Amino acid sequence: MSVATLRAEKHREWELSAVGWVRYRANFADAGVPSALRMVELAEPAPGERALDLACGVGVPAHQLSDALGPNGYVLGLDISADMVAGARAWADRERVSTVEFRVIASERDLGVAPGSFDIGTCRAGLQYMVEPGAALAAMHEALRPGGRMVAMTVGSPHRCASLRILEDVVARHIDVPALIPDPDPEVPGTVALSDPAELEALFTGAGFTRVGTEIADHPIVRADSAEEYWDVCEQSAGPFILLLRAIDPALRAEIRADAIATLRAEFPDGKVVMTGETLITRGVR
Ligand SMILES: C[S@@+](CC[C@H](N)C(=O)[O-])C[C@H]1O[C@@H](n2cnc3c(N)ncnc32)[C@H](O)[C@@H]1O
Repeated sequence: MSVATLRAEKHREWELSAVGWVRYRANFADAGVPSALRMVELAEPAPGERALDLACGVGVPAHQLSDALGPNGYVLGLDISADMVAGARAWADRERVSTVEFRVIASERDLGVAPGSFDIGTCRAGLQYMVEPGAALAAMHEALRPGGRMVAMTVGSPHRCASLRILEDVVARHIDVPALIPDPDPEVPGTVALSDPAELEALFTGAGFTRVGTEIADHPIVRADSAEEYWDVCEQSAGPFILLLRAIDPALRAEIRADAIATLRAEFPDGKVVMTGETLITRGVR
């Protein structure tokens, strides 16, 4: 598949997911706040600095960065999805945060910012979905001033993120489908595409970053108040899952939903679903 076709396919998946990400901000974006805060710490923000957040989604970690940089700081969030950007702007308006801006970009290759114009670069749960993550890091490197810090988070090993596999295992009990979360392949963008710290660090180094290192830790990834809510969130927000469920008969879909809810209730007997997983937080310096 050509880069352009793959990019268009991924773009469509994110446009499908964005409606759910905006509606279920508490389940996805806000669930990720602990890892976002750790990213911000590793970026060593100083009051008044400028941060560039690639794949900003609905505004995490732009929110946490704006808190850390204070009233004289500035955060620019970039994303390929217009709906995500609209969601991030709506959040900033609601919270009356005036030091953030959000823009749509067509590709991770061209960020549309002046070279050397930022002190901090971040990308939370974004690089692994990009067709050209190395080019994205090179563009971020160019956007940073010498001494600027770049911090990216990706999802770690699927084998240590067993919770991510729960719905996939349920679906596989009912229909024969290719894996929703396939084993990592650096050539194929997806949730666990950059789950090997050595690969991620090689991308950082290849883009020109120095003093590159990775912190590996478990953090919450998705949460919901009940098994039913978790299902609804995934059904409306997880791109590949949405496409799969749309394509099957409603009766079978209801059967899969019932199985998923029973499985989740057994896994989380106190009702609340908190899916944690291994995350890699990689940092480098321009
Ligand atoms: C898992 S979400 C993470 C959003 C946000 N950073 C967060 O942590 O809540 C991934 C985001 O990456 C964006 N994205 C995917 N491919 C991209 C690309 N090539 N360039 C910019 N953003 C991209 C998606 O639109 C989506 O908003």
